[in-house]
Order: sequence, then C-alpha cells, then structure tokens
Amino acid sequence: MSIVHSKLRNRKKILHSLPEIIKNIKLTYRQDETTIPEINVIELHLTDRCDLHCNYCSYKNHIDAETLSEKSLYNIMLFKPKAIVLAGGGEPTLFRDSHMDINGVIDFFYKRDISVGLITNGSKKLKKESYDKLKWLRVSLDASNQSEFFALKKGKFSTRLDFLRSACESECKYIGVGYLYGDHNIRTLYDACYELYNIFSSRINIQFRAVCNIQSCTCPSSNYANERFRTSDLDVFWKDEIKYLKSKLCESKYENYDYHNFILNNTNLCDVLDGNKSNSLNFEHCFTALSRWVIRANGNIYPCVMKATNKARPICNIMNLNLQEINNNLSGYYNLSAGYCNGVNSCCRLVGEVNNIVMDSVGGVLDNLDSNDYFY
Ligand SMILES: C[S@@+](CC[C@H](N)C(=O)[O-])C[C@H]1O[C@@H](n2cnc3c(N)ncnc32)[C@H](O)[C@@H]1O
Ligand code: SF4
Ligand code: SF4
Repeated sequence: MSIVHSKLRNRKKILHSLPEIIKNIKLTYRQDETTIPEINVIELHLTDRCDLHCNYCSYKNHIDAETLSEKSLYNIMLFKPKAIVLAGGGEPTLFRDSHMDINGVIDFFYKRDISVGLITNGSKKLKKESYDKLKWLRVSLDASNQSEFFALKKGKFSTRLDFLRSACESECKYIGVGYLYGDHNIRTLYDACYELYNIFSSRINIQFRAVCNIQSCTCPSSNYANERFRTSDLDVFWKDEIKYLKSKLCESKYENYDYHNFILNNTNLCDVLDGNKSNSLNFEHCFTALSRWVIRANGNIYPCVMKATNKARPICNIMNLNLQEINNNLSGYYNLSAGYCNGVNSCCRLVGEVNNIVMDSVGGVLDNLDSNDYFY
C-alpha cells in the first residue's frame, strides 16, 4: 500500500487522539471554567501574505494580510499540542515578526518536543537545519512544468524545484509534493508523476487531492460556487479520463517497472483512479473540534478550515484567551448547537469522514460518558 495512503493521509489517525478527546468531552459536560483543553494537532497560519495567486485558493478572499505575533506561540503551548502543521492562510515561509522568521518558529516547537509539519508553496528556502527538524513537509506544486505552473499560480516553477532539492538533501523523512487535480489537469497526472519521478526519484511522495468544488461532494461552502476550477468526478468525461490513466498505469508495469512501483508506493494515484468510495456522513458530534484546531494569522481559532473560511464564530482568539469562552464554544461546536454548525449538512466531506471514524468507533459509549455508573 502507498505510504501516502497508509501513513501520510490516513484519517484514522484521529483515533490516536481519543484520550484527549474524551477529556475534552468531559470538560464540555461540566462547563468547566478552570481546565484548559488539550488540543493535539494545531494548524497554524503564520501569515496571510502570499507571493502567488492560485486561482482556486480557499483563502483568496482574505485580502487583509495579517501576520501572527511571536507572543501567540507561547499561548499555543497552553493547549499542550503534540503536532503543529505550519500552513496558511498565505505562505508560511514568508512569515516574519520582530526577530522571528519561519526557521525560528520551527525551532520554537522542535525544542519543545512537538512534531512539526510544513505545507508551503516553496517560496523561500529554509535553513538547512530547519529542514532536518521537520517531521514532514509538502510543497504544493499542482503542476509539473513552468507553463502549467504559471497558468495556475503566476509564479516561477524553478523556485519550487530548488526548494524541493534542498529538502531532499536534508534528513526530513517525508518530502511530499501536493498536487491538486480537477477537470483542468486530470489527463496529465500520469505524465506529471513521471516528470517528478525523473527529477527526484523515490525521495519524494506525491499527494493528489481533488480541487474543490467536487461534483460528488455537496459542498456547503459558497466560496466555490462560481469557480472555474472543479472536479467533475461524476461526468462521463471523467470516467473516460480515468480509463485512460488506468491504461497508462497498466502499461508502465511492463515498460518501466521501477516507475510503476514508484506510483504504487509513493503516490496515491490509485485512490484517484478508484474514485469516490466515501460513505454518507452520519456523525452526531464534531470530534474534530476537540482534537484539531486551525489558528488563523489574525489569531482567531476555528475547529476546521470550513469554519475558518466562512466567517463562522471563532472558538476564541489566541492573543486574548478566555477559558469560559473557549469551553463554552467548544461545547457549542462539539454538540453542533444552533449558531455553531449544522453538522453533516455543513461539513466538508473529507473532515466529516474523520468525525464518522470516531463516531463509528466509540460514538455510543461517548454519549454516556457522563454517567456515574461504574459497574460493567
Ligand atoms: C491555502 S494553502 C497555504 C499554504 C501554502 N501557501 C501552499 O500553497 O501550500 C494550503 C493548502 O490548501 C490547498 N488548497 C488551496 N485551495 C484549495 C482548494 N480550492 N481545494 C483544495 N485545496 C486547496 C493548497 O493546495 C495547499 O496545499
Ligand atoms: S500559494 Fe497557497 S496561500 Fe498562496 S494563493 Fe496559492 S494556495 Fe493560496
Ligand atoms: S464543518 Fe462543523 S462538523 Fe464539520 S469539522 Fe467543521 S465544525 Fe465540525
């Protein structure tokens, strides 16, 4: 099985956070105003500044180029995170606040024994030792040559390749290329893998993700309503494209066995070819809100990207923490209360499936957690 499928994009890993989720559920039951919730994974948006102009960027409507303050890193530590994902908003490598830059941020968490992952467009190279300190990194290429890259993002492809080359010389174990696919490039995915394999061989992995808006997903976000980028994965046209890609993959088994194995082991192309196999969403609580937060560059804390990009109610602001407000809002999101979230009708399918996983594993038990009956 591909490392992308089994390890890097394995949503079942939310189950590692069950102990903290259970503690946080108890907090919401008790309306505790003194205990700080433990949030295992924090996606941190260091800045909203960006050098690129991706047509499909989820955050392109955020024109106010906010930058997180260095002081907020200390506040984040109060929530005892175990893993930090540096992402955006904008482009995290462009972050600078007083005397700290992205290298300083990586070092800040690394020194405190927290795993750090980085999602970047590869604008600005890191210091050599910073690459070494990363658990994983992913460069959002979404293209395999300069003309495709420029058409999508209005920037230089070679800069991103240089970033990846430096990363490949480091001790960082998992070096990924993020590759959004949709109607505009589905036919090219096999050749794109080949281009990147020729440059980086098996040192990299390639993580394909469908660009929103996805036809098979009834996305509730108005952000993508008029997009010219879409994934028409229910169309006849799409089925033909998948047939074509499958035949190319099949041929590679005989023509270039090493490359064939690269696709199977280092990419999730097979998931793209398999199509949408998702179950319907049936969760009754938002467990994500208790285990993974998004902190925007203006300090606002949200339970997910959907809420962060749709002007929802923040859980709090990292620069102005108020425990009563945090635990009250956590309870609102966890219980999918009015004014917070409509649950399955408002959720992104990818995140919703994570909620399903917890619900299916322990849902009924968690509902009765408040009971004082200890016999079994
Ligand atoms: C918003 S970017 C910020 C980090 C960095 N600037 C980058 O491009 O990697 C974070 C991730 O969101 C992805 N993304 C942006 N718009 C998207 C969309 N419409 N659908 C799916 N993913 C999207 C990007 O490809 C990237 O992997
Ligand atoms: S590089 Fe990242 S933040 Fe910048 S426009 Fe593209 S997706 Fe958005
Ligand atoms: S959209 Fe609602 S249910 Fe889905 S992750 Fe966000 S807050 Fe939770």
